[in-house]
Amino acid sequence: MQTRTVMAPAKINLTLDVLGRLPNGYHRLAMIMQTIGLADTICLEPQAEGISLACEDLRISGSDPIPLDAGNLAWRAAEAFFARLGGTEGHTGSRAGGVHIRMTKRIPSAAGLAGGSADAAAVLRGLNDMYGLPFAADELAAIGVRLGADVPYCLRGGTCLAEGIGEMLTPLPSFAGHWLVLVKPPFPVSTPWVFSRLRLDDLGERPDTAAMCRLVAEGDLAGVAVGMRNVLERVTEPAHPEIAMIRERMRALGALGSRMSGSGPSVFGLFVDEAAARRAQAELVREWPACWAVPTVDE
Ligand code: C5P
Repeated sequence: MQTRTVMAPAKINLTLDVLGRLPNGYHRLAMIMQTIGLADTICLEPQAEGISLACEDLRISGSDPIPLDAGNLAWRAAEAFFARLGGTEGHTGSRAGGVHIRMTKRIPSAAGLAGGSADAAAVLRGLNDMYGLPFAADELAAIGVRLGADVPYCLRGGTCLAEGIGEMLTPLPSFAGHWLVLVKPPFPVSTPWVFSRLRLDDLGERPDTAAMCRLVAEGDLAGVAVGMRNVLERVTEPAHPEIAMIRERMRALGALGSRMSGSGPSVFGLFVDEAAARRAQAELVREWPACWAVPTVDE
């Protein structure tokens, strides 16, 4: 069995709408998700049994250290994979196999970029490959959704409409090759906190998801940029005025549109081309060191 290296790219939300609340406290969502060119690297080294994890932390903004145990979603993904492989779901310490996970972490945590979910998805894909593809894509997604609602999307990547709790995926024509600037403000935001504060009767401006799917399909960058909405801004922005400040700075620096990603606090702006994005990044990075110019990518 050979070592595998897998990329774990971040995502942004071109739209995020909340349609209702489920009895288990989760929410019914409609989101247009897009993979971006900022990624963790996951190297999987086979070992006889057990899971171990090492991390080189290249994240820019100071945040909590990366857990090197079952507190890390990548670890739990490996555990879930081996449990399923050995037919011992629900038990830890499966004897079906083991892996040492070496992670290079670049995606900021608690940032609205699905960094943890991306790592979990990369571990599932990498292990499935290493073990000769024992699980079909839908089986892997079923393992993934129990780890986190964004994991099925991260397994697939690219441009997708995500519905249900985020696990019902409809691929959209590629929206790759567009340039954005991403800023992670220097504080974390807890997703459960944001959802718990959300009032369904006061979501503010909601996206026209169907219209946005068409604009994405047409590759209409300006139309997409103007139509982007994220109802979670309604909760996160008043709590952290810096988010609105960054959005305004991006617009002033030429962004066609700027929004928060996921539950925040990361903010991205779409730019007309790479040069415009790089110029804006060079300005923004002086104030917010965790700032990147990256393209949208397919996977
Ligand atoms: O599934 P995941 O662990 O990523 O979700 C984190 C939190 O986000 C959940 O505990 C829940 O509070 C919230 N959430 C939600 N509805 C969703 C997805 C996530 O309320 N569809």
